[in-house]
Amino acid sequence: MSPIEFPDTFKLGDRHVSRMGYGAMQLAGPGVFGPPKDRAAALAVLREAIALGANHIDTSDFYGPHVTNQLIREALHPYPDDLVIVTKIGARRGADASWLPAFSAEELTRAVHDNLRNLRIDVLEVVNLRAMHGIHVPAEGSIEAPLTALAELQRQGLVRHIGLSNVTPAQIEEGRRICEIVCVQNHYNLAHRADDALIEQLAGEGIAYVPFFPLGGFTPLQSSILSDVAERLSASPMQAALAWLHRRAPNVLLIPGTSSVRHLRENLAAVELDLPAQSMSALDSIGRPA
Ligand SMILES: NC(=O)c1ccc[n+]([C@@H]2O[C@H](COP(=O)([O-])OP(=O)(O)OC[C@H]3O[C@@H](n4cnc5c(N)ncnc54)[C@H](OP(=O)(O)O)[C@@H]3O)[C@@H](O)[C@H]2O)c1
Repeated sequence: MSPIEFPDTFKLGDRHVSRMGYGAMQLAGPGVFGPPKDRAAALAVLREAIALGANHIDTSDFYGPHVTNQLIREALHPYPDDLVIVTKIGARRGADASWLPAFSAEELTRAVHDNLRNLRIDVLEVVNLRAMHGIHVPAEGSIEAPLTALAELQRQGLVRHIGLSNVTPAQIEEGRRICEIVCVQNHYNLAHRADDALIEQLAGEGIAYVPFFPLGGFTPLQSSILSDVAERLSASPMQAALAWLHRRAPNVLLIPGTSSVRHLRENLAAVELDLPAQSMSALDSIGRPA
């Protein structure tokens, strides 16, 4: 497959990335824990993402842990000049694969150094502080202490830009009083629309909104409306779901995850799908808040 002509970009920190990227979480083993089932296939997915022209990869050192970043390094280092790797810190993995908060200054510092070492880079381009007050839905609670610690790592030159993940509007406001916030990464897709108003607000402020679980995550999206729209467009349901997100707002950056080259190609090509207004409003009806 030849490189895809990505139609538009958005400024993430001080770099422009194409609005369709790739989320690397699915490359680790089952439950995002341990090595992949097929290491060669995982490396092939990463190389294909770059060959197709993607220049934004989302990762974390707690995927595996360490596994996903080590795969990225093996597949892609030395990295293309235009590639922006975005990572996240704020959690650690228990021996039983559980996700535990890791918010102390010491844990955050260790996480930044783990990411630098495993990705083999000197500076992390964008680091999201992943709030753990709620698991996949944010909950209120101050982020001042951990964000101040991350801002100190930025001041030391280890981190270029800072984002927030799994946060409420109040936490974003609190964060913006501490340091510049270049992106917000929250749970959002066709069927999960709690951040509708937030997306518009961030668009007005030039802040990227990066939906995680764009395809539904561990329980991929299923809807007869979605399947019908996709069929009419001779596309797959996942492509239609991504095309809807792509049209949703200009500050939305897509990072669909997959462990399959075939799905990767399908997903990145979703930017080429022309979504007529009628399809857009049918898809809109799936999760539009009452
Ligand atoms: N900040 C956070 O807290 C947070 C949380 C979760 C995820 N993330 C980030 O967001 C990225 C995306 O999320 P995600 O990977 O969890 O979920 P996702 O992109 O919503 O969906 C991934 C799931 O969809 C399947 N899939 C992908 N493309 C498909 C296609 N074309 N047809 C059929 N099935 C397809 C994948 O299976 P196959 O592997 O078989 O394709 C996988 O099961 C992650 O990679 C990660 O970087 C961040």
